[in-house]
Amino acid sequence: MKPLVIVGSGGFAREVLDVVEAINAVEERWRFLGFLDDHKSEDALVTSRGAAILGPSQLLTELDCEYVIAIADPAARERIDALATGAGREAATLVHPGATVGSVNSISPGLVATAGSCVTTNVQIGRHVHLNLGSTVGHDVVLGPYVTINPGAHISGNVTLEDGVTIGTGASVIQGLKVGRRSFVGAGAVVTKDVGPGLVVIGIPARPLAR
Ligand SMILES: CC(C)(COP(=O)(O)OP(=O)(O)OC[C@H]1O[C@@H](n2cnc3c(N)ncnc32)[C@H](O)[C@@H]1OP(=O)(O)O)[C@@H](O)C(=O)NCCC(=O)NCCS
Repeated sequence: MKPLVIVGSGGFAREVLDVVEAINAVEERWRFLGFLDDHKSEDALVTSRGAAILGPSQLLTELDCEYVIAIADPAARERIDALATGAGREAATLVHPGATVGSVNSISPGLVATAGSCVTTNVQIGRHVHLNLGSTVGHDVVLGPYVTINPGAHISGNVTLEDGVTIGTGASVIQGLKVGRRSFVGAGAVVTKDVGPGLVVIGIPARPLAR
């Protein structure tokens, strides 16, 4: 079994531990060492799982193990990826046994695909992408590094989501469109036109959120 740490210790990190446990129930693959967190040293919800927060993310430079990053913020994921890669650490890829991944896909390390997520065919997935419960990714999609697709969101065929894009719960992106770097599509939105970089868009059809 390969040693593994999860970076982050919040709600999503505990969901990622569920993915690890589900994988191990099928085939004992991971020896979970604990969580790393820069902001917390203990948490009752973590200890109730029989786990511990081992220390800050900097520990990645010392621990001989693989890692996944269970933090929503794409900038934090990018920073921790650089730290871990610089220290020679390999990112794990965690696909829940209840997720489906089709044919001819290119998957970079760090993917977390939780239960019910679905990737079809000829999809390119960058480093440290999160695919949450029941989300779907259609044919020929390109997902840049640090993309997050939240529960129940749907990405149609030939869509490109650039680096660090987040798609909110239940949102949809219509086929062939591009969402620019670090943009955020609000929960329930339907994207019907390309979205530029650095925007927050909401509603149907999705429009930039007026501040
Ligand atoms: C779009 C989003 C990022 C905006 O967050 P925010 O900047 O904190 O915005 P606010 O909560 O201050 O809301 C600003 C306005 O937009 C509206 N709004 C916020 N999110 C909206 C959405 N998804 N759809 C429609 N309207 C929305 C609010 O009602 C508010 O309207 P008001 O000014 O008339 O009261 C956020 O609401 C969102 O949808 N996040 C996705 C959450 C998600 O998917 N979580 C999954 C976790 S697993």
